[in-house]
Amino acid sequence: VTSIDGLGYSILVETDALARLGTLIRDHAPAHRYAVVTDENVARHYLTRVEQALATALGNATAATGHVHSVVIPAGEEHKTREQWARITDALLAHGCARDTTIVALGGGVIGDLAGFVAATYMRGVPVVQIPTTLLAMVDASVGGKTAVDTPAGKNTVGAFHPPALVVIDPATLTSLPTRELRAGLAEVIKHGVIANAAELERVSAVAPELLARTASPSAVESLIERSVRIKAHVVATDEREHGLRKVLNFGHTVGHGVEAASSYQLLHGEAIAIGMIAEARLAERLGVAEHGTAEHVERAVTTVGLPSRIPSGIAPGLVIELMQSDKKRRRGMLEYALPHRVGTMAGESSAWGIAVEENVVREILARLY
Ligand SMILES: NC(=O)c1ccc[n+]([C@@H]2O[C@H](COP(=O)([O-])OP(=O)(O)OC[C@H]3O[C@@H](n4cnc5c(N)ncnc54)[C@H](O)[C@@H]3O)[C@@H](O)[C@H]2O)c1
Ligand SMILES: [Zn+2]
Repeated sequence: VTSIDGLGYSILVETDALARLGTLIRDHAPAHRYAVVTDENVARHYLTRVEQALATALGNATAATGHVHSVVIPAGEEHKTREQWARITDALLAHGCARDTTIVALGGGVIGDLAGFVAATYMRGVPVVQIPTTLLAMVDASVGGKTAVDTPAGKNTVGAFHPPALVVIDPATLTSLPTRELRAGLAEVIKHGVIANAAELERVSAVAPELLARTASPSAVESLIERSVRIKAHVVATDEREHGLRKVLNFGHTVGHGVEAASSYQLLHGEAIAIGMIAEARLAERLGVAEHGTAEHVERAVTTVGLPSRIPSGIAPGLVIELMQSDKKRRRGMLEYALPHRVGTMAGESSAWGIAVEENVVREILARLY
């Protein structure tokens, strides 16, 4: 078992951790009651096991004794809403869950963000244990304490900082994750390499084929996840509330969010971020911020793992630019970008890691990314 500390909570990375979840939770996040929040897909594979483990943590033989409750919501980003927040909250209230309840978020980033936001607000805040079951949630969403729901005005427009009490990462849960989702998660692994460690790009490229073919060894998958989580944990520990350094985690995301929305969410988040990283690396070179060759290096990593590297032909650059405007990161009316200096090192320290760029320059870069 690997425990990543430094954030005030433990992040455990361990193949088959779910098999001893009862002990882990009893030791790291003891409570009188547990409320599991999950979605229909994840429930099918893992809910019974998790309920039984929680019952064990409570010292009960089965979950039927009444101290473990589960709320299952439909799967998908379209359910990361205030309506589901209310539904989950109402279910907990109906069960008589009081302040001695710990919420267990079992699922991908949608569940992590939504259940985390329920935990942030329920009874003015109760603990949450994150059990991420997608690669994206393992290396990114479950770590750092950002929680949110979407509104018609945009993604993550209502939320809170609510760090988890514990994060349990069981790479064995990736077995049931669709390959397209698994590959999309690799975009965030590549992003962490660009931010902090160039060698990660070569490691991702080396492990990806076996990971995607489901033939990688458990230890190879564990260490891929562990290294990526360490990078995120280090950035978050330095700047938990995103006043500065944490902004580097937005690399690829300003353009990526625009592409994601312009595709009407037909592209998965990680797929759009892959395209966004190439666009922003080219932008960095064009502005003289990044060394020559940086964009090509990023693009090689993206294409090696089979992620898309071009904006789909049906999506006009103007639409991407328009949808990028809803982004929260702005400076003097111009959008801000987190840009690399080279692979492994980010630029922009003197401007709090955000670099404002004129729209016409971005438009020019996008026009060439088809
Ligand atoms: N809080 C943060 O810091 C942060 C960071 C990055 C992303 N996010 C958020 O994360 C969300 C995206 O997360 P995601 O990519 O995990 O999507 P997701 O939660 O929608 O999961 C993707 C799909 O995989 C299914 N699934 C999950 N685990 C499975 C498993 N083990 N086996 C089979 N099916 C499984 C889900 O039901 C869903 O259909 C977005 O809402 C994004 O805003 C948050
Ligand atoms: Zn992301």
